[in-house]
Amino acid sequence: MKNLYKRVNPVTIWMVGASQGIGLELTKRWLEQGHRVIASARQAESSSELAVLSKRYANLKCLNLDVTDEQDCQQKANQAWLLFSGIDIWFYNVGAYQPMTIAQWCTEDFVKMNQANYLGAVSLMVALQPMFAKQGSGRWIWNASLASYFGLPYGGGYSAPKAALVNLAESLQPELAQQNVQLQIINHGFVKTRLTAKNDFSMPGLVEPAQAAALIDQGMQRQNFEIRFPFKLRIFLSALKTMPYSWALAITRRMLKS
Ligand SMILES: NC(=O)c1ccc[n+]([C@@H]2O[C@H](COP(=O)([O-])OP(=O)(O)OC[C@H]3O[C@@H](n4cnc5c(N)ncnc54)[C@H](OP(=O)(O)O)[C@@H]3O)[C@@H](O)[C@H]2O)c1
Repeated sequence: MKNLYKRVNPVTIWMVGASQGIGLELTKRWLEQGHRVIASARQAESSSELAVLSKRYANLKCLNLDVTDEQDCQQKANQAWLLFSGIDIWFYNVGAYQPMTIAQWCTEDFVKMNQANYLGAVSLMVALQPMFAKQGSGRWIWNASLASYFGLPYGGGYSAPKAALVNLAESLQPELAQQNVQLQIINHGFVKTRLTAKNDFSMPGLVEPAQAAALIDQGMQRQNFEIRFPFKLRIFLSALKTMPYSWALAITRRMLKS
């Protein structure tokens, strides 16, 4: 399959989750590289950062979208498709994170994380798939997390829907490849954004959003199914996944707060 994404070859990218953090930094990079970008988030059209970029780049269109609303997903997918007459890359970057103990479980937050981290991608996938199939080419990139590798204490509400997203991607990849649509996932570690601002522990391998965007951009130059970083955290979490449960759970038990 041809790599649609080359820095020198302008393409149309729909970035869903573009107003903050990693999504905003990727949007800036792509515009600098000359790509056409549709930037979506709940308040994309009133985001001051995106408004500054809109003044500078005619290739940027902002489109409000709430991925928790299925109908909005269908309508905005149709609208986004028409903005530049087709989409080459759909990038799903929405994420919500709220750590919690089982004793202080918040079902409302858990449902929000399932909608943002998993079901929103599914709603957009259902809306977009016929259009990509008709176009006969495209690329989907879903930003999951290294947290999808193994459930860690207090983070399950976030990591369980991320793991579901990765599992779904694995199951869909062969079928989509047959339709000339390349599906890629991203499993990366800690990035300094409003999500990780909620963490009260030290985060190994923490990077700035601009660094994360550069690494993702690099990964997009290649065709691998998984874009992943940083190396050390990935190795640690892969080891947890592959070692016997009795060992892995003995390690994660030590992460509990006393
Ligand atoms: N930060 C990390 O350490 C880390 C690590 C691994 C993976 N990730 C993943 O990387 C992605 C980006 O994370 P980030 O840290 O950059 O997060 P962020 O700064 O909170 O950005 C998330 C983006 O998603 C948008 N969004 C949230 N809820 C939405 C909704 N219901 N509908 C439409 N848009 C919505 C936000 O805009 P509005 O709120 O304005 O709608 C924002 O543009 C997420 O999928 C996250 O899970 C992050």
